[in-house]
Amino acid sequence: MSVVLVTGGAGYIGSHTVDALLTYGDQVIVLDNLSTGHRGAVLTEHFYEGDISDRELVAEIIQKHGVEAVIHFAAKSLVGESMQKPDLYFIENTGKTSQLLQTLVENGVKNFIFSSTAAVYGIPEDVPIAESATISPINPYGESKAMIESICQWMEQAYGLRWCALRYFNAAGAHPQGHIGEDHTPETHLIPLILQTALGQRRNIGIFGEDYNTEDGTCIRDYIHVCDLAEAHVKALKGLLQDLPNGPYNIGTGFGFSVREVIQTAEIVVGSSIAQQMLPRREGDPAQLVAQANRLSEATGWKPKMSDLQTILSTAWNWHNRHPHGYTE
Ligand SMILES: NC(=O)c1ccc[n+]([C@@H]2O[C@H](COP(=O)([O-])OP(=O)(O)OC[C@H]3O[C@@H](n4cnc5c(N)ncnc54)[C@H](O)[C@@H]3O)[C@@H](O)[C@H]2O)c1
Repeated sequence: MSVVLVTGGAGYIGSHTVDALLTYGDQVIVLDNLSTGHRGAVLTEHFYEGDISDRELVAEIIQKHGVEAVIHFAAKSLVGESMQKPDLYFIENTGKTSQLLQTLVENGVKNFIFSSTAAVYGIPEDVPIAESATISPINPYGESKAMIESICQWMEQAYGLRWCALRYFNAAGAHPQGHIGEDHTPETHLIPLILQTALGQRRNIGIFGEDYNTEDGTCIRDYIHVCDLAEAHVKALKGLLQDLPNGPYNIGTGFGFSVREVIQTAEIVVGSSIAQQMLPRREGDPAQLVAQANRLSEATGWKPKMSDLQTILSTAWNWHNRHPHGYTE
């Protein structure tokens, strides 16, 4: 059993990871300021409403519970907002994570798992993308996360920090039991937007560009089921407490699906057609983002089990159907 502090544990990926950790018998403490998260998504009795930059609170939590490791989800993660307010992203993500890391090291916590992103790669030169690919973010969100990875490297040298940065591709789906799922405001992710359209909450789903160099002309992304993602954190945590090498790990499946393929599968899952609207390309959208995703598997035995498109969409549909307005609080 490990004692784990999860920042952002009231959010989408954080809540699924808390669920997985509890299943493995770990003691889990959540710290979340509920800026985008939901009280109803917190699955542990040990919940602190507060900010990751509150050093006194973080130190108190570490001492009171004997925290051994931190899984750090808390962040701002809207690419468009980061273009409008880059300063906010560097303060909220990079600045506050530096403060958090300093508080951890001062209080003797040296195991750190960080939510990074495929956005650190920018427009990739080669697909699938390996961890060794050039880091070249094209928006402040990706840059703020890439900077945190660098900070971890320096803190490893200076203080012996044990860390890994899990670079997620597209998190999707919901817990098969239907008690937790995706509820972002504003929603920017393809699958919830498609399902909100199916529920009649949106008029149609916009497709940004159909002239990419892909089989059907729409963008291809690598979708990883949020429960597989949660499991990746559990494996990374156990690995880090033993001999898992520090550094970045891509978390995806290694397979991509086009926007059209996702919509077609959604139509099968929901049993009706979904209205679509063709829109021009969005600036900065690469044609394909697919992970070379075997580093964590080789090191820990982790393997995606629920990331086929049908399972992703049916678990997401189950969540949206049961909770058409998300968490109501
Ligand atoms: N969802 C994806 O597809 C995806 C892809 C790549 C990376 N990520 C990263 O994964 C992490 C989790 O993403 P998510 O989709 O679950 O987001 P989310 O918004 O659902 O969860 C983030 C949580 O962090 C909390 N939070 C934010 N700032 C905080 C602060 N300063 N102090 C305390 N709590 C704070 C929010 O209230 C929320 O509960 C983020 O770091 C995000 O950048 C997500």
